[in-house]
This record gives sequence, structure tokens and C-alpha cells, in this order.
Amino acid sequence: PVEEYISVLLSKMTLQEKLGQLNQRGTSSRENGISEELKQMVRDGRVGSFLNVQSKESILELQRIAVEESLNGIPLIFARDVIHGFKTIFPIPLGQAASWNPDLVEQGARVSAIEASSTGIRWTFAPMIDIARDPRWGRIAESSGEDPYLTSMMGAAAVRGFQSDDLSNPNSMAACAKHFIGYGAAEGGRDYNTAVISEPLLHNVYLKPFKAAADAGVASFMSSFNEINGVPASGNEYVLRQILRDDWKFDGIVVSDWNSVTEMIAHGYSANEKEAAYSAARAGLDMEMTSHAYENNMKQLINEGRLSMEQLDEKVKNILRIKLRMGLFESPYFDPNQDVLYAEEHLEAAKEMAIQSMVLLKNESVLPLSSETKNIAVIGPLANAPREQLGTWIFDGDEKHSVTPLTSLKGKYGEAVKYASGLAYSRDQSTSGFKSAIKVAKSSEVILFFGGEEAILSGEAHSRADISLPGRQEDLIHELAKTGKPIVLVVMAGRPITLGNIIEEVDAVLFAWHPGTMAGPAVTDLLSGEASPSGRLPVSWPKSVGQIPIYYNHKSTGRPANEESFVHIDDIPLHAWQSSLGNTSHYLDEGFEPMYPFGYGLTYSQFEYSDLTISDDRIKPTDTLVVSATVRNTGDVKAAEIVQLYLQDRFGSLTRPVKELKRFERLILNPGQQARVDFRITQKDLIFYNASGDWVAESGVFKVWIAENAKSGLEGEFELLNE
Ligand code: IFM
Repeated sequence: PVEEYISVLLSKMTLQEKLGQLNQRGTSSRENGISEELKQMVRDGRVGSFLNVQSKESILELQRIAVEESLNGIPLIFARDVIHGFKTIFPIPLGQAASWNPDLVEQGARVSAIEASSTGIRWTFAPMIDIARDPRWGRIAESSGEDPYLTSMMGAAAVRGFQSDDLSNPNSMAACAKHFIGYGAAEGGRDYNTAVISEPLLHNVYLKPFKAAADAGVASFMSSFNEINGVPASGNEYVLRQILRDDWKFDGIVVSDWNSVTEMIAHGYSANEKEAAYSAARAGLDMEMTSHAYENNMKQLINEGRLSMEQLDEKVKNILRIKLRMGLFESPYFDPNQDVLYAEEHLEAAKEMAIQSMVLLKNESVLPLSSETKNIAVIGPLANAPREQLGTWIFDGDEKHSVTPLTSLKGKYGEAVKYASGLAYSRDQSTSGFKSAIKVAKSSEVILFFGGEEAILSGEAHSRADISLPGRQEDLIHELAKTGKPIVLVVMAGRPITLGNIIEEVDAVLFAWHPGTMAGPAVTDLLSGEASPSGRLPVSWPKSVGQIPIYYNHKSTGRPANEESFVHIDDIPLHAWQSSLGNTSHYLDEGFEPMYPFGYGLTYSQFEYSDLTISDDRIKPTDTLVVSATVRNTGDVKAAEIVQLYLQDRFGSLTRPVKELKRFERLILNPGQQARVDFRITQKDLIFYNASGDWVAESGVFKVWIAENAKSGLEGEFELLNE
């Protein structure tokens, strides 16, 4: 019936109305209301969607005009970047990925959809599922990190959460898999930059999360700003048509990024706006965000016979299909009197996600804080920064609702807490606050230093070349260390931060990302031991910027680095010959390992892995292999362990990564408790995209690890036989 309805409707639509469906207008209407000109455009059927309409009243008014006053009464769809929360702000997506808990990600997206849809917004430009291997890139904050499997799990969970099991629920939002494709491969982490991605890499790494989102039923895709191998994504027929439509059978909306159609001129790909419209249309892009290339040129392109009416109709159908599935034709309006923003259960969900997202990187017996602690120095620019703890992309989150660490710690420890920020904000270059911070530190038993990055230092177009703690934070930490008091460093940031200069000065590091509205209660529960840290890194942690890109699922090389061959630069005798240096792939100064591996994170307990079993040492392609291990909590407190399974295809017709994450499971174990974990592996986990463009599982030896992170684990082996 949906397709029939669309055909009938299409036969009644004027050319202007059809073109209108492809038009997504940006507007900010908070102060001035909607202009008469815009209202007339809607009346004339010249707009299909709006983004960033900022009041419920304006949304209702525009929808009323579309439904009641335009020729065919086609409803509008209102879009917004609801990225990690609408009003109740959750941790940045990179932090959410560190929870390794797709259920919580789904719950968070559900909360966001309930809140945003209560104000008429039914389309979010999320999840962002770009693979991000470069922490200099500001948008790593919005990603799930470096791994295709983890990102796929998180992306699909977010899609389920936003869309619920029925897109026509009034509190569902259409999700948008972005940015298609290769945006995270920007050279040097500079935003919008060139992506050069080989065919196998594209399929084996970058496309995987997008396929998972498509399989989860995502309603829309966004074409990315970047070019891929010379062709901008928004005009890229190979990715938008061949892969997305022909291979994956995606039948939803493809929307451009902001002006990304006309930016094909700056790319040096399209000579003018008309050619940009032509390339985008031919490639398979349906809706143009903010720029006007379609609006100004499509009619002429059709008249000239360069584009056909069928091509236009296909785009209109894709858009109407989603509007129909969303129930917008039947129920175009929303109830403006819902009282769901900042609901108690939303704040609880945000707190739980913040708790599970934080990663304990170091702990020299200082955490959890002793309940006897009488004097706690709270220092640092992020201890009481209600706006900054929310992170990037929070158009609607109100800092008045933020609970800061300082507030929560005072609530828990009362008078024991003494506060001196030391630095007014993360980039502060002034040392004028050092004196009072040191004074507070001297009179304390323990120093809690809340450092990191302000929200503005990550996000779109906010890449950094130096990713250490900005401003004078390292200097202040050095000064505080001189007091001899134990220092707990809590970092709030939108990306991994290089910690090499201060790691020896601090006794514990809790990496909190930008945790959102409930940063304070979450941090307080973790520091006090009310909860045990359970976050695990979704990225490999560089020792220094020079190591980037560094990611665990790299290739072996012909001369893989190893401990024996590695010689540190300081140990090289004067005038040494090159041959004495091991001749493997490493840096003389930073070695070859990251500071912390992918999947790493401490808890307040310890876990022991034993008894790896593999159901068969030789399997046929149709078999299911069961890989199992026993995991035991050998510590004194209840804690969560994220058990990870990695595979390596030892020899391939194309070289394969040294390890690839294929499964994980979150276990919660009491002290002394153990559990057996079984992972089922099928052919689907063994295949890769080969040089001929086929997905194949090649016979031969595979290594398998059940591990607590990418650099450890129980190792086994099995062989895949021919059919
Ligand atoms: O959704 C975003 C996109 O990720 C980057 N450019 C702007 C879009 C809409 O705000």
C-alpha cells in the first residue's frame, strides 16, 4: 500500500512540488518567527524538510501550512542534530562507545527521541558512524572510535533507539547514518580533508558500520563533505548508487551534508552550481541540505534531457516513503504539551551511561577514595564547568541542568571538599590561580584534578595538532605534584589526550570524556567506589601525536616490530650503523605500542582468564565454531569485565589485519565468582572483501584470542577447510 499510495500521489504532484520535496531549508526562527516568504514557499510546495526550526510553535505553524494550504497537503519533516541527547545530554558518542554497552546506547537514543519528538523534531542527523583513526580530528568525539565491529554495534543500537520498533510511533525519529563515506579518513585529521581509501579498505573497514545501520533499517543516509579517491561523496555514483542502492537495496532518503552539493565546485569537481546539481542527482542524492543547486537548476536539467523525470521521481519517492513510514501523512502534528524534558528517568539513564563510559587508565592504590578522607582538594578548570562537561553538538542542552563534579562531591563529602580551580578554563595561560590551588592542595589528603578540554576544542572543524592538555594544565599538575599529595586526574575531553608529560606525576587517571548533564553524580559514584569503573577504550591511545595514526587492527608488515628488536633512541651509541637498530617498523623514540591498547580499562577488581577451548580445530565453512573461556573475578569488589574476542586470518590473498574484534560480552561478577563465556563464530566472521570484489572466507589457519584488550589474551588456533 505504501508504494501504491506514493504512485497515486506522485501522479498528482506538480513539477514544483516534486522539486520542493528535495529541498531542505535551514532556518533559525527563535526570535523573528517564520518569515512570510518562507511560509509562502511551504504553501507553494517548495520545501520538503526544515532543519533547525527552533520553536514548537513555528514547527506547528509550518506543518499546518504544508498540510492544509499546499496543493497536495504533503507534510514536512523537521530535522535537527540530536547527537548525544536533546535536553538531557548523554556522554559524547566516543564516550558512549567506551561503555561497550549497546543496550545503554539504544536507551540513550530512545530518550533523545522521546525528548526531541515532543517538540516536533522527527529526524535526527545521527548516528555518526565514521571510523576515526585520528584523534586530532575534532569529530572523533562524535564517532565510536577506530573499530568497525564496535562502531557497527553502537550505530545499529542507536538506530534502534531513535527509530524504536515502529517508525510511525509519534515519539520515533528517523535516524541518519552519516557521513557516507570516508569522512573519518581525512588526511592528518584536518576536517573536510581528502580521503584516499583503497577498495578493500573501504569495504573491510569504512563501509561496515554503514551496512550494519542499513541492516538495522536506518531511514536515511547523509553524504559526506569529503572526496573519496578523487570524487566528492555528494556526487559519487559508485558509493551512493552502486553500493547503497544497487548492492544494499537501501530505499530511504539520501540527504547531502550542509552545502556539500555546491561545495563540489570548491573541490574542483563541478564547474558550477548546475553541474553540481547534475552530478549529485545522477549519483543518487535525494535531498539537498541548505544549498540551492537542485532548486535553481533541476528543471532546466530535465528540460535539456540530461536528467529524466524518472530520476526525479525516484528521489521524490524515497522521501515520501520515509514520510509515510513515519506516519506523517496520518498524524502530521505532535502534542506540544508533553512534559518529558529532563524527566527523572532520563537523567538516571544519562548518569548510568556516564558511569559506564568512563575509563580508568591508571590507579596506584588511590581509588576508590577512602571513606575516611577528611580533606579533598578539588582543583582544575573542568571541576565546575557546567557548559563544558556537555561537550560538542549540544544545541538544546541547557547548562543550568548540568550537575558538576564540584556540586556532587560537595553533596557527598560536604565540608571535606575545598575548591580552587587554579585555571579559569582549559586553555587559560595565566598562572595567577596557581597559588591558591597549591594552598588548598597542601592542606588536603588527596587532590582531585579535573582537567581536559573545553567543549569547543572538539567537534566539527575543531581539529587540534597538539592533543595534550591545553593551556597551563600540565604546569599546574607539576606544581601540585611537588606537594607530595596523591593526585587523581579526571579528564573531560572530546578525544584521547596525550598524557606522557604528566602520567608519572599522577596516581590515578579517570578518563571521563565529556560526560553530559550528569557528569558530577557519575564521577562521584566512581571516585567514591559506589560504582566500579567499567569503560574500555574504543581507540588505541597514542603516547604522542607523532604516533598517529595508531590503531590495533593494523597490518603486520614484512618486518613487524617486537620487543627484542626495539632500541630506544637514547640507547643508540654514537655513530651506530643502521643495522644495529633492529630494522623493524617502529619509532626510535616512541616504539611501536600505544600508551594504552584498544579495549583497555581498569576496574576496582581484577579478572583472570583461563581454560580457552575451541570446539573444533578444523572447521568447514558451514560450521559454527564455539570459542570459550572462563573469566574469574579475583579481586575484592563486584565489577564488570568486557570480554573481547579477536581473530586473525593468518595468510590471505590480501594481507589481513593482525587482529580484528569480532565479539564482546559484558560480564558482572562478584568477588570470587567466575563465568564461562561462549562465543559463536560462523563464516560471516571469517570473510573479507578481496581484490576481485568478492566476500570470501579463505581456507587456512586463523588465530583467536579471548582477551581483556587488544594486547593480551588467551590464544588459540583453528583451521578453515575448503568446502
Ligand atoms: O549533521 C550535520 C553534519 O554532521 C555536519 N554538517 C552540518 C549537518 C547539519 O547540521
